[in-house]
Amino acid sequence: MAGNFSTFESARLSRAPAADLRGRDLISIADFTAAELRTILHRAHSLKAERTAGVPHRLLEGKTLAMIFEKPSLRTRCTFETGMTQFGGHAIDLAQNHMQMGTRESVPDVARNLDRWVDVIMARVFAHQTVVDLAAYARVPVINGLSDHSHPCQILADLQTIEEHRGRLTTLKVAYVGDGNNVTTSLIYAAGILGMDLHVGAPAGYQPTADVLDRARAQATGSDGEIVVHADPVAAVDGADVIYTDAWVSMGQEAESAERMRVFPPFQVNGALLAHAQPDAIVMHCLPAHRGLEITDEVMDGPQSVVFDQAENRLHAQKAILALLLGV
Ligand code: CP
Ligand code: NVA
Repeated sequence: MAGNFSTFESARLSRAPAADLRGRDLISIADFTAAELRTILHRAHSLKAERTAGVPHRLLEGKTLAMIFEKPSLRTRCTFETGMTQFGGHAIDLAQNHMQMGTRESVPDVARNLDRWVDVIMARVFAHQTVVDLAAYARVPVINGLSDHSHPCQILADLQTIEEHRGRLTTLKVAYVGDGNNVTTSLIYAAGILGMDLHVGAPAGYQPTADVLDRARAQATGSDGEIVVHADPVAAVDGADVIYTDAWVSMGQEAESAERMRVFPPFQVNGALLAHAQPDAIVMHCLPAHRGLEITDEVMDGPQSVVFDQAENRLHAQKAILALLLGV
């Protein structure tokens, strides 16, 4: 695979004027400017380079992150907690069955308790409104660790991964194939703000909403990139430099599984679909992968797959988010 940039080279390429994000929430990519997203990416590359070089960065000693999970997680939980450990701070996993947010205690009251003790809150929720409400009532920064609407931390790590492998985000054809879901929404917003060329291949009924597309395209005005939606997966990946896919059934959609299994098979990322992309295209998946459904073993374990780089970069991108929101 061509063009595997070092973290130092990527840091140089993503250099941008530093935006001040102290005290901000991270609820949606759409709330950020290009300069702010570039600031997060630059910090993520720098923190990864420091970590790789063994340079300690105990930036959050004495600070605590509260982690709320209404849904399961491997990557989000481990990377946020590991990031706080590497920063010399601490993370508390508030398992939903213990806290019972919304039943034992209201969302506003959970926020108004937590902000008396902790410095930052990360929440993985079913309804996007829950993380919006947490941010409205908590006086400390709140980070969206996935909602039914979006997954901003994932996409920041993915942008870092694309820069590492391709050295840039623009003048590349990025294709997303599959369900127009929460991950897709964050990718579309990032594409609009940063001027990326994004082609989404999704079946009718599962395509990104007009609301999301209109907002992203409005932010893309003046850039060379475009955001295009295709019903044909081959049209989406034709000549692509990056192919991205995700689960056909997201957490909370289990009741729709049978219908989704009927609709999505033509959108599987397999060797035949990959053959329509550039020969050195990279293949991305936010994970967990459902092998044999949205992606085959052949592709996921093949030389073009960067899925575990994405997983690693959750750590670095989220450390950048924590440091910037806490002003260190
Ligand atoms: N990609 C991602 O968010 O993984 P988890 O669901 O394991 O946190
Ligand atoms: N779209 C998936 C992403 C998992 C990280 C879901 O919401 O389940």
